[in-house]
Amino acid sequence: MGVSLPDRPSFCAVQHAFLFADPAAHSRSPEMHRAAFAHAGISGEYTARRVPPAELPAAVVGLRQPGVLGANLSLPHKTAALSLLDDLTPAARAIGAVNTVIHRGGRLTGDNTDAPGLLAALADVDAPTGGLSVVLGAGGAARAAVYALVSAGHTVMIVNRTHARAQALAAELGGRAAWPETVPWSAVTLLVNASSAGLDAPDESPLSPFVPLEARAVVYDMVYRPAETRLMREARAAGLRAENGLGMLAHQARLAFRAWTGADVPVGVFLGALAGGRMPQPEGGA
Ligand SMILES: NC(=O)c1ccc[n+]([C@@H]2O[C@H](COP(=O)([O-])OP(=O)(O)OC[C@H]3O[C@@H](n4cnc5c(N)ncnc54)[C@H](OP(=O)(O)O)[C@@H]3O)[C@@H](O)[C@H]2O)c1
Repeated sequence: MGVSLPDRPSFCAVQHAFLFADPAAHSRSPEMHRAAFAHAGISGEYTARRVPPAELPAAVVGLRQPGVLGANLSLPHKTAALSLLDDLTPAARAIGAVNTVIHRGGRLTGDNTDAPGLLAALADVDAPTGGLSVVLGAGGAARAAVYALVSAGHTVMIVNRTHARAQALAAELGGRAAWPETVPWSAVTLLVNASSAGLDAPDESPLSPFVPLEARAVVYDMVYRPAETRLMREARAAGLRAENGLGMLAHQARLAFRAWTGADVPVGVFLGALAGGRMPQPEGGA
């Protein structure tokens, strides 16, 4: 089954972007992108579609239609889409995951805006750069984080519940796999939780017990529900700055929107859309 698009002639001014995910119903991306279309004065629509894995190839074919800007991909499609596209950006190829598909003249390019989205969110909070960073997790989000931080010159250690996955990630993308006991925590200036620990679980932490970090360290939790995770709570109690993943969510959307439309909409528009309603539902970044 393909993507059912409105029956519009190709010269129609209304442009479309989609989210393909399964589930997709709770996504906050439509609110962010609708706000961006309105801000940029572009006549556009953004629709979240539940696309089961078996239907992804047909859904991707549908993106080649005139009037379609592209799509965001979220769980479980970020990796499966790699083989369905014409081109991949260097970031998407290295990370091995696509969260943004860009349509130009019938060709589809896969990009990953999670990685630059994280760096932009870290820059917004003046997170230290170039020091020792620890990434917790070894799934798709951790891959984007390690790629981003290594590219930005951080020394990266990767700690994951399943150590072998941290080792595989380090071998592929750089950084060094570590056990919690072997990390020199007092020298860590950036801690990124890219694991699912804490998601919908206010009492769960990926770093338990919490350990003191360098005094100016920032703790960045990609999880944003609850808005303050246990990791953030304990970091703040230790006198450290801690942020949830809403900034990254907004920036990855901003970068996707810019790739589709060329419009550089301020991140505040995306953050405003997220703040305007109920708390965002986790959706793996898109
Ligand atoms: N803010 C954003 O824009 C943004 C973007 C992308 C993702 N995210 C969030 O990032 C998180 C990870 O997403 P993902 O796509 O990488 O998921 P994923 O591919 O399923 O990976 C999950 C990772 O979390 C680890 N993990 C799961 N439960 C854990 C626990 N109780 N304790 C310790 N480690 C645990 C897993 O360890 P094992 O290897 O041992 O299974 C694995 O490394 C999700 O919460 C997602 O919502 C946020």
